[in-house]
Amino acid sequence: MIKAITDGPIHDREHFLDTRPLTRKEVEAALDQVVCQTKANLGYLQGKFPYSAAENGVYPITENVEWTTGFWTGILWLVYEHTGDEAIKEAALKHVDLFLERVEKRIDVDHHDLGFLYTPSCVSCYKLTGNETAKKAALKAADVLMERFREKPGFFQAWGQLGKKEDHRLIIDCMLNIPLLYWASDITGDPRYKDAATRHFITSCNHVIREDASAYHTFYFDPETGAPLHGATRQGYSDTSAWARGQAWGIYGIALNYRHTRMNEAFPLYRGMTNYFLDRLPADDVCYWDLIFSDGSGQPRDTSAAAIAVCGMDEMDRWLPEDDPDKILYRRAAHRILRSLIQDHANKAHQPGQAMLLHGVYSWHSGKGVDVGNIWGDYFYTEALTRFLKAWDPYW
Ligand code: GLY
Repeated sequence: MIKAITDGPIHDREHFLDTRPLTRKEVEAALDQVVCQTKANLGYLQGKFPYSAAENGVYPITENVEWTTGFWTGILWLVYEHTGDEAIKEAALKHVDLFLERVEKRIDVDHHDLGFLYTPSCVSCYKLTGNETAKKAALKAADVLMERFREKPGFFQAWGQLGKKEDHRLIIDCMLNIPLLYWASDITGDPRYKDAATRHFITSCNHVIREDASAYHTFYFDPETGAPLHGATRQGYSDTSAWARGQAWGIYGIALNYRHTRMNEAFPLYRGMTNYFLDRLPADDVCYWDLIFSDGSGQPRDTSAAAIAVCGMDEMDRWLPEDDPDKILYRRAAHRILRSLIQDHANKAHQPGQAMLLHGVYSWHSGKGVDVGNIWGDYFYTEALTRFLKAWDPYW
């Protein structure tokens, strides 16, 4: 069972309800820019991958390591869907071979981010083309992720050595890793993946989300008994604040897990998390990197969190009952945030190696990727635009 919470009201309803919906022309123009940047970056990367965040205005070039390379391949699949450009499809297919090699040789896969890596790169490919290498790679990745399932109390351990007391914790981001497992059950007919994913989803909802519907980044459990210990942060401002991207992972994560589980008890949590997020947006609707900050704080934004939240609101729009009192408000809010991203944060220069969406924050405490573009921001911005153009069938 998922815990019940009281979802707080949205305070300035008119601010969102007054929004003029994005037109098809606006969305198409923004996607044209994405296509242009994708082509420039394909030439720049020469078959390799962008590092997680830009440095000095461009992405450093890497091999297929880290947790973020799947987003670049995911952008290629989204752009291929939009344009039908065979050269982009060929480039993405070459990545699929590299993703199979990565999981078979277990290169940098000892963490829970298998979903972030293999859903946009390989599940996407299998759904779009039926490619068997992609299916094999994604199923293998699902098996590797399953190794991280902890029975007590039922969750996927995010990072670190399995069984180590100090690492016995989940993080809210993982709600987007587990759709890989729902897909694996659908493909194989084996319910183990879906059962574990559902247990992780319930454990996350019950612990990493606070009573006021804000989220901790991470939550610890006792490895012996599974008893809940405490929440904490790694990338947020403090253990008691709400890291903007964590809140956005929760909004989109609940929507996606609803898609696969149809657990109606998730609706109040979704509403609570979304209301908390919307209530803390600054005047131009693009969140600061932690929701504790607002206008006048001098802090950077996190545009990637904004793009993730837009995708989440669009996903849940498909599932919220028609008589939900805020269904139209959420839809309008998504339009409002996406317009702000298009107008004020999308890169319009299109030099090779640049990000599509500027002004993200990767890790403020370590000074990594602060106030620059990052590759998951580019991916979710592209996904959001795709969602606004057609009834998109999610890779997740
Ligand atoms: N999943 C890691 C991050 O959002 O930075």
